[in-house]
Amino acid sequence: MGLFDEMLKDSESLFLNPEQLDFDFQPKLILYRENEQKYIASCIKPLFQNRNGKNLLVYGSPGVGKTVSLKHVINELEEYDNISSIYLNCWKKDTAHKMALEICEQLNYKWIHNKTTDELFKEIKNILNKKTAVFVIDEADKLTEMNGVYYILEDIYKKTIFFITNNKDWLISLDERLKSRLILEEIEFKPYNLEQTKGILKQRLDYAFVGNVWENAAFNKIVEKTFELKDIRLGLFLLREAGNIAENSSSKKININHVEDAMKKLDEYKTKNPEEFEEDLNILLELIKLNSGKTIIDIYDLYKKDNEISYRTFKRKISKLSDNKLINVKNTVSEKGGKTFIINYSSMKKLDEF
Ligand SMILES: Nc1ncnc2c1ncn2[C@@H]1O[C@H](COP(=O)(O)OP(=O)(O)OP(=O)(O)O)[C@@H](O)[C@H]1O
Ligand SMILES: [Mg+2]
Repeated sequence: MGLFDEMLKDSESLFLNPEQLDFDFQPKLILYRENEQKYIASCIKPLFQNRNGKNLLVYGSPGVGKTVSLKHVINELEEYDNISSIYLNCWKKDTAHKMALEICEQLNYKWIHNKTTDELFKEIKNILNKKTAVFVIDEADKLTEMNGVYYILEDIYKKTIFFITNNKDWLISLDERLKSRLILEEIEFKPYNLEQTKGILKQRLDYAFVGNVWENAAFNKIVEKTFELKDIRLGLFLLREAGNIAENSSSKKININHVEDAMKKLDEYKTKNPEEFEEDLNILLELIKLNSGKTIIDIYDLYKKDNEISYRTFKRKISKLSDNKLINVKNTVSEKGGKTFIINYSSMKKLDEF
């Protein structure tokens, strides 16, 4: 074998299409969510008859296919000319103005400069009311104000609004006026069972890797861990990490040792939106790590020393960390008999479990 043959052989990758393991990769087939997707479609159906659709709250824990299912529905709607669809992620678009700018971008409306939120929504109204519209408002609990939702409710005549959240209690926090106008139906996305978890990860594995590089025991270990943690995203992370570790050790197969090493890295996997994870949240997380088990007020007092922050904003940060499973928040009774919360740092716990 020639010099280059040997070198190329060594650099052969175990991966075929690694992008299949990206968290925002949209697979063509969404497995095991047929019923949920049918229900979602039934909420949109009135729009086809030029009537107002139903609004729906989609809730469930992280990594159970809420976003991917709704995006799939939106993609299917592209075929139909009289329905526009808008997808908004409130991690990034948390105010009415940011929502308006994002909607304009999706509608390809370019004359946004120096326009107020009111003016932008007027333009949006003109465009969207020529047709009917589907809105997916993802991570809805991250909205810092509800004005954008009011605009959509009032200005757009024939529409369906889907709200997605991890936390169904978010609904309780909405004001009554908004709730009574939305008339939200609800659907829960339950975690996948073991067989379903395996099916979803196998589908990705088949596309992402070269054939026959996975040892059965190694893949099964990832399936079991993913099922235990109830988050498909963690499974995708483990598939990629184990593949990288095997590749770096020039192994032609991915075996159980590679998976075990990958699991040790789970702790580094901090959040589903790492690029959006604000620096100050990391600082707060470090503080909680050092003070795990204290009450929310104690942590607030410590954090306040170096940061000017209201309790309300502080609580929002705590929710973000909790939604991302980085901390645990438990109800308890304070020494004075009132209700309070105990904050525990949880990603170390995750690591300890392995
Ligand atoms: N039924 C499924 N078929 C194929 N892939 C899936 C399925 N369910 C989840 N996934 C994959 O798992 C990952 C997480 O799914 P998704 O982003 O939809 O979770 P989510 O429920 O929106 O979670 P979060 O509440 O944290 O936003 C995605 O990469 C997605 O492609
Ligand atoms: Mg999501």
